Amino acid sequence: MTSVAAKHAKGKKLKDVIFVTAGQALADAKENGRENVVNGTLGAIHDEDGKLVFLKTVKEEYLGLNDTEHIGYAPIAGIPEFLAAAEKECFGNSRPEGHIRSIATTGGTGGIHHLIHNYTEPGDEVLTADWYWGAYKVICSDIGRTLVTYSLFDEQNSFNLEAFKNRVNELAARQTNVVILFNTPGNNPTGYSIEDKDWDSILTFLKELVAIGRNNVIIGIDVAYLDFSGDREEVRGFFSKFGHLPKAILTCVCYSLSKGFTMYGQRVGAMIGISDDEEIADEFLEINKNTSRATWSNICRPAMRTMANIVADPVKFKAYEEERNSYYQLIRDRADIFKEEAAQVGLPMLPYRGGFFITIPTDSANAICEELKKEHVYVIALANGIRVAACGIPKFQMTGLAEKIYNVMKRLGKL
Ligand SMILES: Cc1ncc(COP(=O)(O)O)c(C=O)c1O
Repeated sequence: MTSVAAKHAKGKKLKDVIFVTAGQALADAKENGRENVVNGTLGAIHDEDGKLVFLKTVKEEYLGLNDTEHIGYAPIAGIPEFLAAAEKECFGNSRPEGHIRSIATTGGTGGIHHLIHNYTEPGDEVLTADWYWGAYKVICSDIGRTLVTYSLFDEQNSFNLEAFKNRVNELAARQTNVVILFNTPGNNPTGYSIEDKDWDSILTFLKELVAIGRNNVIIGIDVAYLDFSGDREEVRGFFSKFGHLPKAILTCVCYSLSKGFTMYGQRVGAMIGISDDEEIADEFLEINKNTSRATWSNICRPAMRTMANIVADPVKFKAYEEERNSYYQLIRDRADIFKEEAAQVGLPMLPYRGGFFITIPTDSANAICEELKKEHVYVIALANGIRVAACGIPKFQMTGLAEKIYNVMKRLGKL
């Protein structure tokens, strides 16, 4: 192939199954009517009429901003009121003790990028669970790192602590910094959330590891689905565990406005660093600010201001929370329909606790998804399963979907 690309860029090509499949679903809906097409592709909330939801409380605040707020530059690290609001909203009543620093990022994605870029060396491996969001791999490979995985579930579909420990030990033997990405609560694609007791075991193990004196551990927690994964304070309870950890352990929470404030395309989030050591916290701020300047410069001002204004105003915040929770409930109801029907027909699914997605484990996802398209059902084929976006499928279409998938799997001999 003729190419003028630099060595590190040559041959790179983004294969985005999700957006391709979403496009096919839209084309089918145009031809055959929206009500006849099941679109379970994208991670964005659609209402019962199939319309993309823009929370009214957010929309009103956003559209009411003045010109300066709409178009002005923001500080590289982000608007201070936004950063304070992001910390408040992210942690709730479980703010960890210690030194906390935040930087605005291009959604959760930006924080994950900076974390990998600034805390691993070229050639290093980055660890996550085998059920992971595809963007992790793209970010790693784009900057010369390799994503490696441990198996998330044991035979009882509980957190596989042994597999986790083994993989961490392997990495720790090869490289100084061990960066681990967790996507919880409401993991994409499974809907699984790591339980508090498992966090205790994970942290005990990581403390033992750094006590040997060879490694630093950077815990990245991607909380994109925090607001759709259970009771507000219950799902945030685990954050307090990240206070007073040894200084060789740095925690970074990647927070996003995409889902919780339905501002997906506005590209706003924050990376929030937690350390018991002030210098490490300050370093976190400085190095990541520098990387922001070197990549996207600053972040979308109106979305930051919108969120900051809502969080600062108790009346607006209450209205916003009620509205958002009504959609959380809607997604739960849809997932419940699927769960109940899957159990009835005997369709296997991974343990869903919250978030936008449900997953059916299978090695034949491609064949099954292609067959489902013939029935106007569009879901995502993963390497090891089928992802169904509960956030996007109205209840009337969720009803019967588990059986449809079951029948296709049975017909293809894949059960
Ligand atoms: C697991 C996970 N993390 C993070 C994100 C964040 O996306 P954004 O960069 O829009 O905040 C998503 C969105 O799809 C996701 O599924």
